[in-house]
Amino acid sequence: MSTIRLCALADLPDGMVMQVECDGTPVALARIGDRVFAIGDTCSHAEVSLSEGEIDVEECALECWRHGSLFSLETGEALTMPAVRPVPVYSVRIDGADVVMDS
Ligand code: FES
Repeated sequence: MSTIRLCALADLPDGMVMQVECDGTPVALARIGDRVFAIGDTCSHAEVSLSEGEIDVEECALECWRHGSLFSLETGEALTMPAVRPVPVYSVRIDGADVVMDS
């Protein structure tokens, strides 16, 4: 297993989402408090960037800015219409002052 540094934790403030690239794949990296999440950045409905949307803290989800579907940050599941297909989920964690991905 390898570990990839994605960004400094300080660059991802609480409640924010940002796009990072992993092996050429766009990933939406989100933070809620002391937890970090990563899901595929491309909406499964119409291929827009989910990292341009907003976090729904109560649902632990990311809202697509285009049509409003919520995607679970924990499972990638599409929680609300119009999207029905999930997006990938990646294993990320806080490691000291960094956010890292295990692959
Ligand atoms: S493009 Fe994301 S819900 Fe339609």
